[in-house]
Amino acid sequence: MKPENIYIVSNRLPVTVMRTENGFTVTQSNGGLATALGSVFHQQNSYWIGWPGIIVDNEKEEQLVKELLEPLRCIPVFLSQEEFDGYYNGFSNAILWPLFHYHPGHCIFDDEYWLAYRNVNSKFGSVVSAHVPQDAFLWIHDYQLMLLPFYINHSNLSYFHHIHFPSQEVFGIIPWRSDLLDALLKCRHIVFQTEKDRVNFKDACLKYASKAHPDLFNTHSSLGTKVSAHPISIDAFDFSQTVQKNAVQTMTREIHDVFANQRIILSVDRLDYSKGILERLEAFRLLLKDFPQYHEKLVLLMLVVPSRSDVPSYEEHKRKVDELVGNINSEYASLGWRPVHYYYQQVNRDTLCAYYAAADVCLVTSLRDGLNLVSKEYVACRTKNNGVLILSEMAGAAEELTYALKIHPYDIKQMVVAIAYALEMEKSEENVRMTALKKKVFGYTVFDWLDTIFQEVFCMYEELKYSFEQ
Ligand code: ADP
Ligand code: F6P
Repeated sequence: MKPENIYIVSNRLPVTVMRTENGFTVTQSNGGLATALGSVFHQQNSYWIGWPGIIVDNEKEEQLVKELLEPLRCIPVFLSQEEFDGYYNGFSNAILWPLFHYHPGHCIFDDEYWLAYRNVNSKFGSVVSAHVPQDAFLWIHDYQLMLLPFYINHSNLSYFHHIHFPSQEVFGIIPWRSDLLDALLKCRHIVFQTEKDRVNFKDACLKYASKAHPDLFNTHSSLGTKVSAHPISIDAFDFSQTVQKNAVQTMTREIHDVFANQRIILSVDRLDYSKGILERLEAFRLLLKDFPQYHEKLVLLMLVVPSRSDVPSYEEHKRKVDELVGNINSEYASLGWRPVHYYYQQVNRDTLCAYYAAADVCLVTSLRDGLNLVSKEYVACRTKNNGVLILSEMAGAAEELTYALKIHPYDIKQMVVAIAYALEMEKSEENVRMTALKKKVFGYTVFDWLDTIFQEVFCMYEELKYSFEQ
């Protein structure tokens, strides 16, 4: 059962508008939200409201951007540089993101950020009210818009939280914790990635929400807000079909040729301290020190997409990653061998899939991650049922992908042992693990996730209707 008329609202649109010499153009947005929801957005009757990824400074340009986005069913919310700095760089990514990922040291608790977050959430509210009919299914996404429900009057309001929800002690560090929870609880339906997130949210509500009541979490939606956990996924079939395209297979062969006689460890992420990139590099460095037999026979290939580069903690993190990559390469490289290949750029879907197909090992080292789609993408691209996924136990996906090799991302020595084990794994074990992982990833795609959520919403409203009729 799918609602007839769906409006997605998220900070970022699935496309990013860019300036060209004679106007504007669009490219695919990066990040997990855009990848996953982008696949289901092409359903009929869906619209998407969000920031277009560019600051435009006059009405004429706003009009041009609107016209560019209209055929894509995207409705832009324009932000000034000041709004963007306070709401996105500030409150979202220098308070909520670091705290929700257990990095309170990266937080800057500035009242101005809170003001900007409120103003921008209210601005989103005005755009929503102007465009979304009352009978539409209104679906808010992620931590950048936790206050949005407060600014809209809509009866069918759902929220999906893409990132980890921290324990209530950590959430309680936020001075504005009650306002955030009270606003969210205006939704009838709130969904988290994992059961752990759901329980943390419930604990936070019971402690800090002004109107929280134990019944709130009763499965009977008529008593309040229904809160559940359904991990998001990917369009697995699209990834496996992409790998089989001629152009992608040619690219895969080229990658193998470039790295002839070398095993490939691949990592793919935004440049974010929560992904454990420094820890991964430290583990790789230790591996090269302790296992000299891998010299000239192994590369770490890192596809890293630029992210949030105006936020000070991200700038600082980038500097450290650049430096560590340089140190490892200068310590261990030889005439024909560079151990770390670090690409600081977004690659297109075909290229990404070619790398997934070429990699012997995919290494996911998140220090904390709501889910981590990269782990599922790698599995979807392993058409021959080989390859090893090494996955941090701190990623939400670890709950589902139990046949991955699990690591503790803060335990560098354990990571080294896991990488060495992966490289030496018997083909039969590789096959058993990958077959089981594929069963999971293909058995529950992003479309199944969507069906589950809509089914839940449908049942909820049926219950509600029933309780009114009694
Ligand atoms: P997050 O949502 O925190 O960014 P995820 O792992 O869930 O983390 O999602 C990241 C998404 O961004 C994936 O779809 C991945 O393929 C994509 N991605 C990450 N790095 C790159 C890159 N360098 N080039 C292209 N896509 C990338
Ligand atoms: O998955 C978490 C998330 O913050 C999403 O909301 C977002 O799409 C993605 O990471 C990328 O982040 P940003 O939109 O800040 O570049």
